[in-house]
Amino acid sequence: MDKLIIEGGAKLRGEVTVSGAKNAVLPILAATLLTDDACIIKGVPDLLDTNTMIKILSSLGKNVDVENGVISVTAAKSGNFVADYKLVSTMRASFCVLGPLLGKLKKAKVSLPGGCIIGVRPVDLHLKGIKALGANVDIDSGYVVAKADRLKGGHIYLGGAYGSSVLATDNVMMAAVLANGKTIIESAACEPEVVDLAEFLIKMGAKIKGHGTPIIEIEGVKHLHGATHTIIPDRIEAGTFLVAALITRGDIHIKNVFFQHLGALIDKLQEAGAAITKKDGSVRVRYQRPFKAINVTTLPYPGFPTDMQAQIMALMSVTSGISVITEKIYPDRFMHVAELNRMGAHIQREGPHAIVEGVKGLSGAPVMASDLRASACLLLAGLAAHGKSTVSRIYHLERGYEDMEEKLKKLGANIRREKE
Ligand code: UD1
Repeated sequence: MDKLIIEGGAKLRGEVTVSGAKNAVLPILAATLLTDDACIIKGVPDLLDTNTMIKILSSLGKNVDVENGVISVTAAKSGNFVADYKLVSTMRASFCVLGPLLGKLKKAKVSLPGGCIIGVRPVDLHLKGIKALGANVDIDSGYVVAKADRLKGGHIYLGGAYGSSVLATDNVMMAAVLANGKTIIESAACEPEVVDLAEFLIKMGAKIKGHGTPIIEIEGVKHLHGATHTIIPDRIEAGTFLVAALITRGDIHIKNVFFQHLGALIDKLQEAGAAITKKDGSVRVRYQRPFKAINVTTLPYPGFPTDMQAQIMALMSVTSGISVITEKIYPDRFMHVAELNRMGAHIQREGPHAIVEGVKGLSGAPVMASDLRASACLLLAGLAAHGKSTVSRIYHLERGYEDMEEKLKKLGANIRREKE
């Protein structure tokens, strides 16, 4: 296992290019299971999670070739419908092979992903959705076993206690594209990554309308064919660089950005005082005074993304004033609070709220990454802190950020990697 050593204090400056979106590429790779034809996916980020999905596809009979961010998927032998515990347990998003396996083969046996550090993370909405399409669903020895003689369209309400679900919407959409008749998903997730998946499915011959809104309509077709698709830029990576510029009091130019995907975050950063200018698929962000504390509540898209909550908390921890950060998607996603406090932050957790009292500066310390976005938060805190920080367990970072360390170095950050 590697760790990152950061000497804080450098103001980040220069240009950085955002990679393809992790949360788009994973379901899109899963969607290639819906056809035996060749699919070509471009702009694929080189991530641990992408590699896990490639292993799952190979285990399910696909040939996968990767070259320079382009993945070609062809069928070697179709028919395996079992997604193994070892692979699914390492990455929750693996569960999105359930929908396409069921859609194509009318049967699927997929390990339950289990909980994770950010919360319980049930799959009841996924199961409700595929049952409404006519599948019989059993839980057997930790696996979901779903079968149907034929899938038929249905009217499905997919809202849960915490709003819509991204991967449940993906799973149901991927099962419904090959069902008989029309499916309506109500309270569908509107995230750009769901839209990107729908666009890929449409290129494969699916009939989908309303993606990007809470009501998605799918007219089932008999057969899907191969397609070529380019993954959208990662809005969370872009957001992490926006915060990186501000937390280091820097000035950076972020390229390959769909700023329409960053509305809630940009709005909040401007409210705090950031100078942000958007031009031709890129964003320039510059720290300027006065810069003040803001309150943030995470919500499903187009609300403020939960995947940016930890990073904005790092920024607020060094911003004067009091900030209340409310987590409405994963009420337990606060593992980074204790680590930030170890660096001198003043953050108190009250249920789903974190009350952040901005301090003048953080001091470098050894800290431990607990999950993907918490690791980004600690890295950002380390960049802003006085002195040396060591972030352990950075494999979490590598699950979801392509080349983060190198990209930050090019912007002037003082980072090096060491074996633990
Ligand atoms: C996706 C993203 C993840 C992001 C999250 C919320 C991928 C690969 N991951 O995860 O980065 O943090 O969206 O934007 O795209 N829930 C239920 N029952 C279910 C499913 C979900 O109650 O069957 C709850 C969850 O526990 C959570 C909320 O719904 O409280 C939203 O979760 P969901 O949108 O499903 O997250 P993922 O799709 O797993």
